[in-house]
Amino acid sequence: MLEQLFIPNPDAEQPNPIRPRKGVLIGLGQVGLACAYSMLIQNCFDELILQDIAAEKLEGEVMDLVHGMPFLPPTDLKAGTVADAGKDADLVIITAGVAQKPGESRLNLVERNVAIFKTILGDVVKYCPNAILLIVSNPADIMTYATLKITGFPSSRVIGSGTVLDTARFRYLLANKLGIDARSVHAYIIGEHGDSELPVWSAANVAGVRLYPPEGEMTSRREELDAIFEQVKNAAYEIIKRKGYTSYAIGLTVSDIIKAILRSQERILTVSGLVDGLYGIDDVCLGLPRVINEKGILKTVNLPLNETEQKQLRQSAQVLREIFAQLKL
Ligand SMILES: NC(=O)c1ccc[n+]([C@@H]2O[C@H](COP(=O)([O-])OP(=O)(O)OC[C@H]3O[C@@H](n4cnc5c(N)ncnc54)[C@H](O)[C@@H]3O)[C@@H](O)[C@H]2O)c1
Repeated sequence: MLEQLFIPNPDAEQPNPIRPRKGVLIGLGQVGLACAYSMLIQNCFDELILQDIAAEKLEGEVMDLVHGMPFLPPTDLKAGTVADAGKDADLVIITAGVAQKPGESRLNLVERNVAIFKTILGDVVKYCPNAILLIVSNPADIMTYATLKITGFPSSRVIGSGTVLDTARFRYLLANKLGIDARSVHAYIIGEHGDSELPVWSAANVAGVRLYPPEGEMTSRREELDAIFEQVKNAAYEIIKRKGYTSYAIGLTVSDIIKAILRSQERILTVSGLVDGLYGIDDVCLGLPRVINEKGILKTVNLPLNETEQKQLRQSAQVLREIFAQLKL
Protein backbone atom coordinates (compact mmCIF):
# COMPACT_ATOMS: atom_id res chain seq x y z
CA MET A 1 0.00 0.00 0.00
CA LEU A 2 1.81 3.04 -1.26
CA GLU A 3 -0.26 5.44 0.93
CA GLN A 4 1.64 4.08 3.93
CA LEU A 5 4.60 6.14 2.72
CA PHE A 6 2.84 9.24 4.07
CA ILE A 7 1.53 10.23 7.48
CA PRO A 8 -1.57 12.37 6.93
CA ASN A 9 -1.90 15.65 8.81
CA PRO A 10 -5.38 15.46 10.43
CA ASP A 11 -5.59 19.30 10.50
CA ALA A 12 -5.02 19.67 6.76
CA GLU A 13 -7.98 21.04 4.81
CA GLN A 14 -8.77 20.13 1.23
CA PRO A 15 -7.25 22.71 -1.12
CA ASN A 16 -9.68 24.96 -2.96
CA PRO A 17 -10.04 23.68 -6.48
CA ILE A 18 -8.11 26.00 -8.82
CA ARG A 19 -9.30 25.96 -12.39
CA PRO A 20 -6.41 24.47 -14.33
CA ARG A 21 -5.15 26.21 -17.47
CA LYS A 22 -5.82 23.67 -20.15
CA GLY A 23 -4.43 23.64 -23.69
CA VAL A 24 -4.74 21.31 -26.65
CA LEU A 25 -2.01 21.25 -29.27
CA ILE A 26 -3.14 19.69 -32.55
CA GLY A 27 -0.33 18.54 -34.86
CA LEU A 28 2.82 17.05 -33.37
CA GLY A 29 5.23 17.42 -36.26
CA GLN A 30 8.45 19.41 -36.11
CA VAL A 31 6.65 22.65 -35.28
CA GLY A 32 4.19 21.12 -32.82
CA LEU A 33 6.98 19.36 -30.96
CA ALA A 34 9.05 22.52 -30.63
CA CYS A 35 5.91 24.31 -29.37
CA ALA A 36 5.16 21.52 -26.87
CA TYR A 37 8.73 21.50 -25.55
CA SER A 38 8.84 25.27 -25.24
CA MET A 39 5.42 25.34 -23.49
CA LEU A 40 6.51 22.62 -21.08
CA ILE A 41 9.77 24.20 -20.04
CA GLN A 42 8.00 27.53 -19.55
CA ASN A 43 5.11 25.89 -17.68
CA CYS A 44 2.50 27.62 -19.84
CA PHE A 45 -0.31 25.18 -18.98
CA ASP A 46 -1.39 23.05 -16.01
CA GLU A 47 -2.81 20.52 -18.45
CA LEU A 48 -1.58 20.04 -22.01
CA ILE A 49 -3.17 17.56 -24.39
CA LEU A 50 -1.34 16.58 -27.55
CA GLN A 51 -3.41 15.45 -30.55
CA ASP A 52 -2.18 14.00 -33.85
CA ILE A 53 -3.45 11.47 -36.36
CA ALA A 54 -0.15 9.56 -36.21
CA ALA A 55 -1.13 7.72 -33.01
CA GLU A 56 1.98 5.64 -32.40
CA LYS A 57 4.42 8.46 -33.02
CA LEU A 58 2.32 10.69 -30.75
CA GLU A 59 2.51 8.08 -28.00
CA GLY A 60 6.30 7.92 -28.33
CA GLU A 61 6.67 11.71 -28.25
CA VAL A 62 4.49 11.97 -25.11
CA MET A 63 6.55 9.24 -23.39
CA ASP A 64 9.77 11.03 -24.25
CA LEU A 65 8.46 14.42 -23.05
CA VAL A 66 6.97 13.21 -19.73
CA HIS A 67 10.24 11.57 -18.75
CA GLY A 68 11.66 15.09 -18.45
CA MET A 69 8.99 16.18 -15.95
CA PRO A 70 11.17 15.72 -12.83
CA PHE A 71 13.28 18.62 -14.13
CA LEU A 72 10.31 20.94 -14.68
CA PRO A 73 7.40 22.59 -12.91
CA PRO A 74 4.43 20.25 -13.25
CA THR A 75 2.31 20.05 -16.39
CA ASP A 76 -0.20 17.23 -16.76
CA LEU A 77 0.82 16.16 -20.27
CA LYS A 78 -0.97 13.44 -22.20
CA ALA A 79 -2.08 12.28 -25.61
CA GLY A 80 -5.75 12.87 -26.36
CA THR A 81 -8.15 14.93 -28.42
CA VAL A 82 -10.41 17.94 -28.05
CA ALA A 83 -13.29 15.48 -27.76
CA ASP A 84 -11.94 13.68 -24.66
CA ALA A 85 -9.18 14.91 -22.33
CA GLY A 86 -9.04 18.24 -24.18
CA LYS A 87 -12.71 19.07 -23.71
CA ASP A 88 -13.36 22.68 -22.59
CA ALA A 89 -9.75 23.74 -23.13
CA ASP A 90 -8.87 27.42 -22.71
CA LEU A 91 -6.64 27.41 -25.75
CA VAL A 92 -6.41 25.24 -28.86
CA ILE A 93 -3.22 25.61 -30.87
CA ILE A 94 -3.19 24.19 -34.39
CA THR A 95 0.09 23.26 -36.06
CA ALA A 96 -1.32 20.32 -38.01
CA GLY A 97 -0.91 20.19 -41.72
CA VAL A 98 1.58 19.68 -44.41
CA ALA A 99 4.84 21.60 -44.27
CA GLN A 100 6.47 23.68 -46.98
CA LYS A 101 8.69 21.77 -49.40
CA PRO A 102 12.04 23.38 -50.30
CA GLY A 103 11.27 26.40 -52.54
CA GLU A 104 7.51 26.03 -52.13
CA SER A 105 5.60 29.21 -51.29
CA ARG A 106 3.37 29.14 -48.21
CA LEU A 107 0.40 30.01 -50.35
CA ASN A 108 0.79 26.75 -52.33
CA LEU A 109 -0.02 24.84 -49.20
CA VAL A 110 -3.43 26.30 -48.82
CA GLU A 111 -5.79 23.75 -50.38
CA ARG A 112 -4.14 20.84 -48.59
CA ASN A 113 -4.23 22.53 -45.22
CA VAL A 114 -7.81 23.82 -45.47
CA ALA A 115 -8.97 20.24 -46.07
CA ILE A 116 -7.14 19.11 -42.90
CA PHE A 117 -8.61 22.01 -40.90
CA LYS A 118 -12.13 21.09 -41.94
CA THR A 119 -11.64 17.65 -40.39
CA ILE A 120 -10.30 19.17 -37.14
CA LEU A 121 -12.48 22.21 -36.47
CA GLY A 122 -15.89 20.50 -36.14
CA ASP A 123 -14.82 18.88 -32.86
CA VAL A 124 -13.08 22.05 -31.69
CA VAL A 125 -16.35 24.00 -32.01
CA LYS A 126 -18.35 21.21 -30.40
CA TYR A 127 -16.10 20.42 -27.44
CA CYS A 128 -14.18 23.68 -26.84
CA PRO A 129 -16.78 26.34 -27.66
CA ASN A 130 -15.17 29.01 -25.48
CA ALA A 131 -11.54 28.39 -26.42
CA ILE A 132 -9.17 30.88 -27.96
CA LEU A 133 -7.76 29.38 -31.15
CA LEU A 134 -4.15 29.99 -32.13
CA ILE A 135 -3.38 29.11 -35.73
CA VAL A 136 0.19 28.35 -36.73
CA SER A 137 -0.17 26.13 -39.83
CA ASN A 138 0.73 27.83 -43.10
CA PRO A 139 -0.31 29.85 -44.94
CA ALA A 140 -1.03 31.16 -41.47
CA ASP A 141 -3.14 34.22 -42.38
CA ILE A 142 -5.32 32.26 -44.79
CA MET A 143 -5.71 29.45 -42.26
CA THR A 144 -6.66 32.01 -39.60
CA TYR A 145 -9.30 33.51 -41.89
CA ALA A 146 -10.56 30.05 -42.87
CA THR A 147 -10.81 29.12 -39.17
CA LEU A 148 -12.79 32.28 -38.46
CA LYS A 149 -15.26 31.40 -41.24
CA ILE A 150 -15.49 27.67 -40.46
CA THR A 151 -15.94 28.05 -36.70
CA GLY A 152 -18.02 31.26 -36.59
CA PHE A 153 -16.04 32.23 -33.45
CA PRO A 154 -15.69 35.95 -32.69
CA SER A 155 -12.61 37.55 -34.27
CA SER A 156 -11.14 38.25 -30.81
CA ARG A 157 -10.79 34.47 -30.26
CA VAL A 158 -9.26 33.44 -33.59
CA ILE A 159 -5.61 34.44 -33.59
CA GLY A 160 -2.88 33.62 -36.09
CA SER A 161 0.79 33.56 -35.19
CA GLY A 162 1.00 36.22 -37.91
CA THR A 163 4.29 38.07 -38.23
CA VAL A 164 5.39 37.56 -34.62
CA LEU A 165 8.20 35.25 -35.75
CA ASP A 166 9.16 37.57 -38.63
CA THR A 167 9.24 40.49 -36.19
CA ALA A 168 11.49 38.45 -33.86
CA ARG A 169 13.85 37.68 -36.75
CA PHE A 170 13.84 41.36 -37.73
CA ARG A 171 14.64 42.55 -34.21
CA TYR A 172 17.34 39.91 -33.79
CA LEU A 173 19.09 40.81 -37.05
CA LEU A 174 18.89 44.55 -36.41
CA ALA A 175 20.17 44.08 -32.86
CA ASN A 176 23.01 41.92 -34.10
CA LYS A 177 24.04 44.59 -36.59
CA LEU A 178 23.82 47.33 -33.95
CA GLY A 179 25.53 45.30 -31.21
CA ILE A 180 22.66 45.66 -28.72
CA ASP A 181 20.06 43.43 -27.03
CA ALA A 182 17.19 42.49 -29.37
CA ARG A 183 14.68 43.51 -26.69
CA SER A 184 15.86 47.11 -27.08
CA VAL A 185 15.04 47.21 -30.78
CA HIS A 186 11.50 48.41 -31.52
CA ALA A 187 10.59 47.37 -35.01
CA TYR A 188 7.73 45.49 -36.64
CA ILE A 189 7.04 43.33 -39.64
CA ILE A 190 3.37 43.47 -40.63
CA GLY A 191 1.07 42.07 -43.33
CA GLU A 192 1.12 38.51 -44.63
CA HIS A 193 3.34 35.96 -42.85
CA GLY A 194 5.06 35.36 -46.18
CA ASP A 195 6.37 36.94 -49.33
CA SER A 196 4.28 40.16 -49.29
CA GLU A 197 5.11 41.12 -45.68
CA LEU A 198 6.62 44.54 -45.03
CA PRO A 199 8.85 46.30 -42.48
CA VAL A 200 7.42 49.37 -40.77
CA TRP A 201 10.58 51.42 -41.24
CA SER A 202 8.81 54.68 -40.35
CA ALA A 203 8.37 53.44 -36.77
CA ALA A 204 11.56 51.35 -36.35
CA ASN A 205 13.66 52.84 -33.58
CA VAL A 206 16.23 52.32 -30.86
CA ALA A 207 15.66 54.42 -27.73
CA GLY A 208 13.40 56.66 -29.80
CA VAL A 209 16.03 57.19 -32.52
CA ARG A 210 14.63 56.36 -35.94
CA LEU A 211 16.69 53.76 -37.82
CA TYR A 212 15.68 54.30 -41.43
CA PRO A 213 16.89 57.54 -43.07
CA PRO A 214 14.44 59.65 -45.12
CA GLU A 215 14.26 59.25 -48.93
CA GLY A 216 17.47 60.37 -50.69
CA GLU A 217 19.61 60.46 -47.52
CA MET A 218 22.33 58.10 -46.28
CA THR A 219 21.92 55.65 -49.15
CA SER A 220 24.38 53.10 -47.76
CA ARG A 221 22.54 52.89 -44.45
CA ARG A 222 19.26 52.41 -46.31
CA GLU A 223 20.84 49.62 -48.37
CA GLU A 224 22.12 47.89 -45.25
CA LEU A 225 18.70 48.02 -43.61
CA ASP A 226 16.93 46.88 -46.79
CA ALA A 227 19.29 43.88 -46.91
CA ILE A 228 18.32 42.98 -43.34
CA PHE A 229 14.63 42.98 -44.28
CA GLU A 230 15.40 40.72 -47.28
CA GLN A 231 17.09 38.29 -44.87
CA VAL A 232 13.97 38.31 -42.67
CA LYS A 233 11.66 37.69 -45.62
CA ASN A 234 13.76 34.80 -46.90
CA ALA A 235 14.64 33.30 -43.52
CA ALA A 236 12.21 30.36 -43.70
CA TYR A 237 13.32 29.45 -47.23
CA GLU A 238 17.00 29.56 -46.18
CA ILE A 239 16.42 27.41 -43.08
CA ILE A 240 14.22 24.88 -44.92
CA LYS A 241 16.86 24.63 -47.68
CA ARG A 242 19.43 23.61 -45.06
CA LYS A 243 17.53 21.58 -42.43
CA GLY A 244 14.19 20.78 -44.05
CA TYR A 245 11.89 22.66 -41.69
CA THR A 246 11.84 25.47 -39.13
CA SER A 247 10.97 24.72 -35.51
CA TYR A 248 12.78 26.23 -32.51
CA ALA A 249 12.01 29.91 -33.10
CA ILE A 250 8.36 29.23 -33.96
CA GLY A 251 8.11 27.11 -30.78
CA LEU A 252 9.31 30.07 -28.70
CA THR A 253 7.04 32.42 -30.65
CA VAL A 254 3.98 30.32 -29.93
CA SER A 255 4.72 29.97 -26.21
CA ASP A 256 5.26 33.73 -25.97
CA ILE A 257 1.82 34.38 -27.51
CA ILE A 258 0.28 31.80 -25.16
CA LYS A 259 1.81 33.41 -22.07
CA ALA A 260 0.50 36.81 -23.21
CA ILE A 261 -2.98 35.27 -23.44
CA LEU A 262 -3.08 33.07 -20.32
CA ARG A 263 -1.39 35.59 -18.05
CA SER A 264 -3.45 38.41 -19.57
CA GLN A 265 -0.27 40.39 -20.13
CA GLU A 266 -1.76 42.94 -22.54
CA ARG A 267 1.40 42.70 -24.61
CA ILE A 268 1.67 44.05 -28.10
CA LEU A 269 2.43 41.31 -30.62
CA THR A 270 2.05 41.27 -34.40
CA VAL A 271 -0.45 38.42 -34.41
CA SER A 272 -2.78 37.82 -37.33
CA GLY A 273 -6.41 38.75 -36.91
CA LEU A 274 -9.34 40.16 -38.77
CA VAL A 275 -8.86 43.63 -40.25
CA ASP A 276 -12.09 45.49 -40.76
CA GLY A 277 -11.68 48.96 -42.21
CA LEU A 278 -8.20 49.95 -41.01
CA TYR A 279 -6.05 51.46 -43.83
CA GLY A 280 -8.94 50.82 -46.22
CA ILE A 281 -8.52 47.05 -45.77
CA ASP A 282 -11.56 44.89 -45.17
CA ASP A 283 -12.36 41.29 -44.34
CA VAL A 284 -8.91 39.70 -44.36
CA CYS A 285 -6.61 38.38 -41.63
CA LEU A 286 -3.04 39.66 -41.46
CA GLY A 287 -0.35 40.62 -38.96
CA LEU A 288 -0.56 43.99 -37.20
CA PRO A 289 0.59 45.02 -33.70
CA ARG A 290 -2.24 44.03 -31.39
CA VAL A 291 -2.86 44.04 -27.65
CA ILE A 292 -3.39 40.49 -26.39
CA ASN A 293 -4.97 39.39 -23.13
CA GLU A 294 -6.98 36.50 -21.67
CA LYS A 295 -9.90 37.37 -23.95
CA GLY A 296 -7.73 37.20 -27.07
CA ILE A 297 -7.24 40.20 -29.34
CA LEU A 298 -8.28 43.23 -27.31
CA LYS A 299 -7.33 46.01 -29.73
CA THR A 300 -5.11 46.89 -32.68
CA VAL A 301 -2.47 49.61 -32.60
CA ASN A 302 -3.40 52.36 -35.05
CA LEU A 303 0.10 52.66 -36.55
CA PRO A 304 0.55 55.92 -38.46
CA LEU A 305 1.94 54.20 -41.59
CA ASN A 306 3.41 56.39 -44.33
CA GLU A 307 1.97 56.28 -47.86
CA THR A 308 4.43 53.65 -49.14
CA GLU A 309 3.76 51.37 -46.17
CA GLN A 310 -0.01 51.75 -46.50
CA LYS A 311 0.24 50.85 -50.19
CA GLN A 312 2.41 47.80 -49.41
CA LEU A 313 0.01 46.68 -46.69
CA ARG A 314 -2.96 46.97 -49.03
CA GLN A 315 -1.03 44.92 -51.63
CA SER A 316 -0.32 42.28 -49.01
CA ALA A 317 -4.03 42.17 -48.12
CA GLN A 318 -4.88 41.87 -51.81
CA VAL A 319 -2.55 38.85 -52.21
CA LEU A 320 -4.31 37.13 -49.33
CA ARG A 321 -7.80 38.03 -50.49
CA GLU A 322 -7.12 36.65 -53.98
CA ILE A 323 -5.97 33.33 -52.56
CA PHE A 324 -8.95 33.18 -50.28
CA ALA A 325 -11.35 33.92 -53.14
CA GLN A 326 -10.17 30.70 -54.85
CA LEU A 327 -10.98 28.52 -51.84
CA LYS A 328 -14.10 26.48 -51.42
CA LEU A 329 -14.99 26.34 -47.73
N1 LIG B 1 3.26 30.37 -38.60
C1 LIG B 1 4.57 30.18 -38.63
O1 LIG B 1 5.32 31.13 -38.35
C2 LIG B 1 5.11 28.81 -39.02
C3 LIG B 1 6.47 28.52 -38.89
C4 LIG B 1 6.92 27.27 -39.25
C5 LIG B 1 6.04 26.33 -39.78
N2 LIG B 1 4.71 26.64 -39.90
C6 LIG B 1 3.73 25.68 -40.44
O2 LIG B 1 3.37 24.75 -39.41
C7 LIG B 1 2.81 23.58 -40.04
C8 LIG B 1 3.47 22.32 -39.45
O3 LIG B 1 4.81 22.23 -39.88
P1 LIG B 1 5.70 20.96 -39.47
O4 LIG B 1 7.08 21.24 -39.93
O5 LIG B 1 5.47 20.64 -38.05
O6 LIG B 1 5.04 19.84 -40.36
P2 LIG B 1 5.09 18.27 -40.08
O7 LIG B 1 4.73 17.63 -41.39
O8 LIG B 1 6.36 17.90 -39.41
O9 LIG B 1 3.90 18.02 -39.03
C9 LIG B 1 2.57 18.11 -39.32
C10 LIG B 1 1.83 17.24 -38.33
O10 LIG B 1 0.43 17.40 -38.53
C11 LIG B 1 -0.16 16.12 -38.31
N3 LIG B 1 -1.49 16.08 -38.90
C12 LIG B 1 -1.85 16.05 -40.20
N4 LIG B 1 -3.18 15.97 -40.31
C13 LIG B 1 -3.69 16.00 -39.06
C14 LIG B 1 -5.00 15.93 -38.51
N5 LIG B 1 -6.08 15.85 -39.31
N6 LIG B 1 -5.14 15.93 -37.18
C15 LIG B 1 -4.06 15.98 -36.36
N7 LIG B 1 -2.79 16.04 -36.82
C16 LIG B 1 -2.61 16.03 -38.15
C17 LIG B 1 0.81 15.14 -38.95
O11 LIG B 1 0.61 13.82 -38.50
C18 LIG B 1 2.14 15.73 -38.48
O12 LIG B 1 2.54 15.20 -37.25
C19 LIG B 1 3.07 23.74 -41.53
O13 LIG B 1 1.91 24.23 -42.17
C20 LIG B 1 4.18 24.79 -41.57
O14 LIG B 1 4.27 25.46 -42.82
C21 LIG B 1 4.24 27.86 -39.52
